[in-house]
Amino acid sequence: MEVRRVILLMMVGGGGAGAGAGSPQQWRKRVREPCKKLVLYFHDIIYNGHNGKNATSAIVGAPAWGNRTILAGQNHFGDVVVFDDPITLDNNLHSPPVGRAQGFYIYNKKDIFTSSLVFSFVFNCTHHRGTITFAGADPLMNKTRDISVIGGTGDFFMTRGVATLSTDAFEGQVYFRLRVDINLYECW
Ligand SMILES: *[C@@H]1O[C@H](CO)[C@@H](O)[C@H](O)[C@H]1NC(C)=O
Ligand SMILES: *[C@@H]1O[C@H](CO)[C@@H](O)[C@H](O)[C@H]1NC(C)=O
Ligand SMILES: *[C@@H]1O[C@H](CO)[C@@H](O)[C@H](O)[C@H]1NC(C)=O
Ligand SMILES: *[C@@H]1O[C@H](CO)[C@@H](O)[C@H](O)[C@H]1NC(C)=O
Repeated sequence: MEVRRVILLMMVGGGGAGAGAGSPQQWRKRVREPCKKLVLYFHDIIYNGHNGKNATSAIVGAPAWGNRTILAGQNHFGDVVVFDDPITLDNNLHSPPVGRAQGFYIYNKKDIFTSSLVFSFVFNCTHHRGTITFAGADPLMNKTRDISVIGGTGDFFMTRGVATLSTDAFEGQVYFRLRVDINLYECW
């Protein structure tokens, strides 16, 4: 019975379990170390009525007291923004993109800037192939925010982990750049 449990845990551990047998306790300790780390940036240019050409995101839903051109009052509560943002390896908007960050965010607190994020990194480059999907709460006033890596495909098949977001730049209500420190704890 005990032996079967150990084997099952090792199978669930996948690539992280590596060579050599271990007790369930040892296995748990090992997975605390990330099996892969990545640092990437993505750039969000919100449509504001005048930047149709280079905007990468748009307000698609607004509360009754707002509209879809300008983010609403009360910390943008109720706004829903869809984005298709370039991802870069450094913090320069004009660096060659390695893929697109595609998804949406919803501002969901009246008394402080906070959003919920759901998006995927869709890679299109020679370094990485596949996708990583993220979801989580993003209290924007925190210097760093942890969100979940809930899955992946291709090079990131079945991955899971945690990504730490930090706002690397914020220019008015038109442009922001997020740094994403990705720590994957399940790699196949
Ligand atoms: C978007 O385009 C406008 C007009 O060309 C420009 O003024 C603005 O700086 C651009 N925004 C970014 C973030 O590059
Ligand atoms: C959207 O709301 C802003 C702020 O209330 C206002 O200045 C702007 O004229 C509105 N735009 C449209 C298209 O209704
Ligand atoms: C992927 O990158 C290539 C080369 O830069 C480009 O031609 C192609 O349109 C890109 N595909 C997608 C889906 O973005
Ligand atoms: C944001 O910061 C507050 C106060 O420092 C902390 O309690 C909270 O856990 C943080 N939230 C996240 C998601 O990091």
